Amino acid sequence: MNSSLDLALATAFMQARLPRSPSVSVVLGSGLGQLVDALDDSVSVSFDEVPGFVPCSVEGHLGQFVTGRLGGAEVLLQSGRYHSYEGYSAEVIAAPVRVAAALGVRSFVFTNAVGGIRENLVPGDLVLIDDHINATFQSCLPRFESCMSEMRFPYDPMLRSVAKELAVRMDIPLARGTYAAVLGPAYETAAEIRALEVIGADVVGMSTVLEVGIARALGIRCLAFSMVTNKATGLRTSKLSHKDVVEVGQQAGWRLTALLTELIPRLATEVSPRRQND
Ligand code: HPA
Repeated sequence: MNSSLDLALATAFMQARLPRSPSVSVVLGSGLGQLVDALDDSVSVSFDEVPGFVPCSVEGHLGQFVTGRLGGAEVLLQSGRYHSYEGYSAEVIAAPVRVAAALGVRSFVFTNAVGGIRENLVPGDLVLIDDHINATFQSCLPRFESCMSEMRFPYDPMLRSVAKELAVRMDIPLARGTYAAVLGPAYETAAEIRALEVIGADVVGMSTVLEVGIARALGIRCLAFSMVTNKATGLRTSKLSHKDVVEVGQQAGWRLTALLTELIPRLATEVSPRRQND
């Protein structure tokens, strides 16, 4: 499904609704919406109110922007996201990132739910994404932007080291790994999981890489965390449902919420913005 996003119109609408300009944005994945409750002076805008946006159809994804203060920092949370498996085009998936960038966001933190491929990753584990494999074979970028965009550092080394250091200080176990994105909506076969493992994936999910692609093309620093909600389906003996994924995200998401509550104000104040080719 396509949308006709008029970026200037959508941005002007958001500026009229939001009391202040955010500098950091956090995308909250399946079952990971708890951070919304930590915001002070919050204002919510549902995606379907924004001109050119479409509704979000997945259980566990509210589909709204929530802005507010977190430890003194102005943050734009995105509770829920669009996915290719909902039938949405890359243009629709990119729209919230484009609008956040136009509102002044310079750092993006993406969160998502994943299946664990690497043997030692179990449900409830938190993984800092070092790199990704885009196995959706799609791109969010119009042709002219793709020519100029390069992906040497999809996930910003400085933001990653701030996150690692903070996790150690807070005593929050944080694994590291490579995220493989697939189209879904079916979970993977055993053969697909073996293939993803061979090409270097530690976890598998159905989001994030298209959003990171557009954010990097716009010169925004990115960071991403995965919550392992299940062993990848090819490695399981029991059936997996989206409800299981949302439930594990909700139960184990508190550690990620605690980490983000400390991390976001640091990203907003200590880490200066940088364009892509700096
Ligand atoms: N595969 C793909 N996406 C997912 C999974 C999975 O096993 N778990 C949560 N999101």
